[in-house]
Amino acid sequence: MLRVIICVSGGGTNLQAIIDAKAAGKLENAELVRVISNKKGAYALERAEKAGIESVCVSPKDFPDREAFHEALLKTVEEAAPDLIVLAGFLVVLPKEMISRYRNRIINIHPSLIPSFCGNGYYGLKVHEAALARGVKVTGATVHFVDEGTDTGPIIIQKPVAVQEGDTPEILQRRVMEEAEWILLPEVIRLIAAGRIHVTEGRVYIK
Ligand code: GRF
Repeated sequence: MLRVIICVSGGGTNLQAIIDAKAAGKLENAELVRVISNKKGAYALERAEKAGIESVCVSPKDFPDREAFHEALLKTVEEAAPDLIVLAGFLVVLPKEMISRYRNRIINIHPSLIPSFCGNGYYGLKVHEAALARGVKVTGATVHFVDEGTDTGPIIIQKPVAVQEGDTPEILQRRVMEEAEWILLPEVIRLIAAGRIHVTEGRVYIK
């Protein structure tokens, strides 16, 4: 069984997609062992509780400095002994130590086709605002492994989504979630749990 923890900061619709996939029997080889939020009161925590998954909040506000927060976060991760860490809308820059310790075992979902509209400052609605401002006809979502950069790790899977006339950032965000994010994230977890994802020299191969 692949022990999976999910890190969240907000509404947790991607977390919900993972919970639903598990309930539907699509994640046979994965166990959802813990949800970690950096925000108290994040709705994602409620989703976890409703699904009977242990949930823990580690808020930077409860610690004197970044270092102490990072230490607590890493401890909360390690206690759960994860094989895979899923960042599902987790708005925290990870401690370097965590990235190296869990190399190619941390995945993130980004709501664009990387390398477009990614990197520092591109999160949430800003990604979709930028895509609309540039006038792209196709956007999408990407699941990638996390490395030391922002959205620079090996790309695992991508799915295109059409931009439509009259789209607002909110409408586009919703379409990207429905047509791409909520499908890709559980699918990648399933593939990893099945041992089908391999990384060689920074490139991902699905066998
Ligand atoms: C998603 O758009 C995801 O791609 C991004 O943050 C958002 C999280 O949404 N990284 P939710 O909390 O899963 O609803």
